[in-house]
Amino acid sequence: MRLLVTGGLGFIGSNFILHTLNTYEDLSIVNLDLITYAGNFENLKEAEAFGSRYKFIRGDIADRKLVSEIVSTIPDAVVNFAAESHVDRSILDASAFLKTNIIGTQVLMDCCRDRKISRFVQISTDEVYGSLGPSDPPFTEANDLKPNSPYSASKASADLLARAYFKTFGMDVVITRCSNNYGPLQFPEKLIPLMITNAIQDKELPLYGDGMNVRDWIHVLDHCRAIDMVLRKGKSGEIYNIGGSCEYPNIDIVRLILSKLQKPFSLINYVQDRPGHDRRYAINANKLTDELGWTPSINFEDGIDQTIKWYIENEPWWRRIKTGEYLTYYEKWYGGLRT
Ligand code: NAD
Ligand code: TYD
Repeated sequence: MRLLVTGGLGFIGSNFILHTLNTYEDLSIVNLDLITYAGNFENLKEAEAFGSRYKFIRGDIADRKLVSEIVSTIPDAVVNFAAESHVDRSILDASAFLKTNIIGTQVLMDCCRDRKISRFVQISTDEVYGSLGPSDPPFTEANDLKPNSPYSASKASADLLARAYFKTFGMDVVITRCSNNYGPLQFPEKLIPLMITNAIQDKELPLYGDGMNVRDWIHVLDHCRAIDMVLRKGKSGEIYNIGGSCEYPNIDIVRLILSKLQKPFSLINYVQDRPGHDRRYAINANKLTDELGWTPSINFEDGIDQTIKWYIENEPWWRRIKTGEYLTYYEKWYGGLRT
């Protein structure tokens, strides 16, 4: 299989590329990534060992000429991870979210439709469903879309476009909606890596509001295995929820991290809440389990231990991000921009 992966220098995309290249000898991947602040060339240094099975192209999924050229020559299937992904940034300025998450997805799907690409996997999120009350049942694929942040609204828009391309053009599209991921290579602006790295540095841990917002955590490798399964066996036009059935309020996560790092709870700093902050997410992934046989394999206790260990052992990786040095590595190693 020849796969086009977009956004593969980010957290989940890079884990997915390494996981699938290691799993399938007959797989080759082209990674199209714009290298925004979230794209880290260091994440896939290891992929170079796969020689011609891995190729990187710097570019924008909203660049129709470039995407059309790539799609005409390379893939059997496309997995679209490329996105602006951080809620807080979308509150500050939603422009890039609309451009990449909506227009970018449209351009990519147009090119895939025109070239009759056999499968298009749209990586979406549970955040498109909005927020749950404390005793509501977890989201199923039948829940209405009620996004509350500019980020989730842009992802929901892309989901609706993907549905429309399936209905209108008969394009082979599948959508995945996953809960909050954690694991190696996550950019330290998201809750878990931010709190681990701040704790190591004895910096304050900024906890929004009352710290009682609930997220449903899944290890990134379990997410990657689920995506691979949907790519290969998912039914065209379907949506698949992915989740770890692992709900925790943020305060519990932060206390757990501090305890494991033997740092004092006094580092926790309750700060002003995020505007429109979704109270609770929880995912029902029964459809994926019943139809495709997927189950998560990494329990949270083990996963968080491994993740903390990874951040301790890879301190230069996140320190280079926190200082901004990581932004220079593409130029250094790749020898200039692709025009
Ligand atoms: P990330 O922010 O770590 O990475 C995004 C990647 O996309 C970066 O490498 C960036 O350079 C690239 N990119 C951004 N704009 C681009 C463009 N216009 N063209 C090409 N590349 C571009 O994000 P992530 O956490 O790895 O998330 C990947 C996908 O998974 C996103 O679509 C996100 O909505 C979805 N998702 C994330 C989570 C989570 O917990 N992180 C959960 C569910 C779904
Ligand atoms: P985040 O990692 O940004 O993911 P999302 O908002 O997409 O779920 O945040 C996870 C939770 O942690 C969310 O409830 C907001 C909260 N949070 C904090 O309390 N402090 C922080 O500094 C960050 C980044 C998040």
